[in-house]
Amino acid sequence: MDKYELIIEEAKKARLNAYSPYSEFKVGAALMTKDGKIYHGCNVENISYGLTNCAERTCLFSAVAAGVKKEDIVLFCVVGQTEDPISPCGACRQVMAELLDQKCEVVMANLRGKYKLTTVEELLPFGFKEIENVF
Ligand code: THU
Repeated sequence: MDKYELIIEEAKKARLNAYSPYSEFKVGAALMTKDGKIYHGCNVENISYGLTNCAERTCLFSAVAAGVKKEDIVLFCVVGQTEDPISPCGACRQVMAELLDQKCEVVMANLRGKYKLTTVEELLPFGFKEIENVF
């Protein structure tokens, strides 16, 4: 099993924990650090809908909360039951651009064995990156 197959399997495991009673659409995410540690995430919905946290953000926030630094993350993956490999939403791309290295590899996968490799910088060209403090 190569690193891509491995991270997809981990994201699939995380997907099973999705809390998605409103959409009934389960999504899983996983990331791998330099030392081979894996962190997981799933979508967590809310009755007020807008408070829903996507799998990608859950995964990144739990890694940050565990003390993981951006330089240590080498691979990120998201998986969902879609015809083509699932593609992260705009909000998640913005968070990925902040918490992952621009060159970090991203695996987008579905449950049928299809996957696509990309990078953070490819997913969010011209992202919002700078605040000039005028106060
Ligand atoms: N969702 C994710 O978790 N990640 C994605 O990349 C796409 C969408 C979730 C949000 C919501 O719980 C459900 O999938 C339907 O949009």
